[in-house]
Amino acid sequence: MTTHKQALLYPELSEQLEVPKPVNVASVPQRSPFRYPGGKTWFVPTFRRWMVRMHPKPRILVEPFAGGGIISLTALFENLVQKAVMVELDDEIAAVWESVVNGDAEWIANRVLTFELTKEAVIQEIKKTPKTRKEKAFQTILKNRTFHGGILAEGSGFLKYGENGKGIHSRWYPGTLAKRFLNLNYVANRIDFRCDDGIKVMQEFATNKSAVYFIDPPYTAGGKKAGKRLYKHCDLNHERLFEMCESLKGDFLMTYDNAEEVKRMARSRGFQMRLIAMTNTHHAAMEELVIGKDLSWMDTFPAVHDPEVRYVIRETKKKHPAKAVQRSR
Ligand SMILES: C[S@@+](CC[C@H](N)C(=O)[O-])C[C@H]1O[C@@H](n2cnc3c(N)ncnc32)[C@H](O)[C@@H]1O
Repeated sequence: MTTHKQALLYPELSEQLEVPKPVNVASVPQRSPFRYPGGKTWFVPTFRRWMVRMHPKPRILVEPFAGGGIISLTALFENLVQKAVMVELDDEIAAVWESVVNGDAEWIANRVLTFELTKEAVIQEIKKTPKTRKEKAFQTILKNRTFHGGILAEGSGFLKYGENGKGIHSRWYPGTLAKRFLNLNYVANRIDFRCDDGIKVMQEFATNKSAVYFIDPPYTAGGKKAGKRLYKHCDLNHERLFEMCESLKGDFLMTYDNAEEVKRMARSRGFQMRLIAMTNTHHAAMEELVIGKDLSWMDTFPAVHDPEVRYVIRETKKKHPAKAVQRSR
């Protein structure tokens, strides 16, 4: 177990806290062709851990907010489930998943390999009105890979500097991208993709005991702005989502930002919560919230610690102020 120490504001008041190191994303196979804002590659090890302890093994994974789909793809490639139901409301993202399911991954791979990437060529390409879903899919990948942060929402623009000042070229790796598309053919027939409302599709599977859910909604609960800049579809009825989770026969795992409003909704339904370490795109160490019915399996997981740790300062008999500090829930 790798841990590092977090410096406290008042180190003299406490033993130092062991804070887990975020997952090294380079150790997770990158199977998605997207570079997705809020993508969950870093969550893959935790997801695997959740899946492998289930008996009987679930047959279906429902991902109601699929985005770049790394969790569903991992579940399929690693045979953690037989089938993945991927749901995404964004029509541009949907075009990519639909094309993969319809057998057009190779066509997209060829377009990627033969496209001469310049800013002008991208502008020219994305101005066209696509005649087919696969053409729209290619436009989407082009934008996703050359726009700042992979963001397709309104107001997004081209990568200015990118990695090492390479601008729009910095996330365009034709060979790697084409291979990812070709590899998707191995699992395409096990993907049930829907361009629909995720909560509605959850309802469809709610009584299915062999379905489990990985739920990663836009982080907009309590009017938070973070998720609004990133996605075209960000207005979600979060209360309704929590209500739906309550009605599911199968297990679910939900990720959210560590916001008071979210914790209130989870607590009021008796769900459990844990914090998990992650690194954001700016390499800043952060924590996200994991919500589920029973998360006791996460207590032994190195990259997790309890969200509700408070510091209680106890006074000693000799009236020394604040000598001992206790962690409590
Ligand atoms: C946090 S992102 C998911 C990221 C994904 N887990 C990944 O690893 O790439 C949330 C996604 O939900 C989509 N979305 C928002 N509202 C939705 C809805 N009602 N139904 C389905 N998808 C929705 C957004 O377009 C966005 O792609």
